[in-house]
Amino acid sequence: MTIHIGAKPGEIAETVLLPGDPYRAKWAAETFLDNVSLVNDVRGMLGYTGTWNGNAVTIQGSGMGMPSLSIYANELIKDFGARTLIRIGSCGGMQAHVNVRDIILAMTATTVGSPSQSIFKEVNFAPCANWGLLQAAAKASQSIDVTTHVGGIYSSDTFYAERPDLDEQMVRHGILGVEMEAAELYTLAARYGCRSLAVLTVSDHLQTGEALPSDQRERSFGDMVEIALKAAFA
Ligand code: HPA
Repeated sequence: MTIHIGAKPGEIAETVLLPGDPYRAKWAAETFLDNVSLVNDVRGMLGYTGTWNGNAVTIQGSGMGMPSLSIYANELIKDFGARTLIRIGSCGGMQAHVNVRDIILAMTATTVGSPSQSIFKEVNFAPCANWGLLQAAAKASQSIDVTTHVGGIYSSDTFYAERPDLDEQMVRHGILGVEMEAAELYTLAARYGCRSLAVLTVSDHLQTGEALPSDQRERSFGDMVEIALKAAFA
């Protein structure tokens, strides 16, 4: 047990999928895994361990934002031995050619400042995905009927942005979408020699204002789980 994860030693798999929403963790575990058991409910941040094609997998909610994800990823890696961590979540589209419901595989995650900024000081560290996972996810996405983009995303500290100029610079520099967690996940994975990737569905679009209808959210989420599982065990 750790401060935020009530699992017993051995109850967390080496491969962990991290949706922001704990109820998504429950849905994904019940839909995709066999032999599922609840391994964490501290603060309602549900985590489940089961098997997929005979491989052990944990699906643990991360909460929203880098500080929350940082707590769970730190404990999963350092205390429970997680080695492959894949975020599955939503993002806002930032380019005209990126549409709502498309999937983005985040090659890099730009940030103004993550919880790790204090150790980098003047250095602008470049958080990036694990190449093997990224490659496998790109391949897995070809078997799914959804447009997939691979490129840079922006991990923001705010959902309700007060700096339109910052968004403009991200768009200008080809950033595909904005979310709030990947940069810290990639940084922690780099620090502790783990593999990480963020698989994201475009749930809304910053320029067009379009949003994914709620009846399509579940299907999109399922696509991401499938891509993440196939990439993890490719
Ligand atoms: N901003 C930040 N995070 C997000 C967004 C957004 O527009 N959409 C989904 N996650």
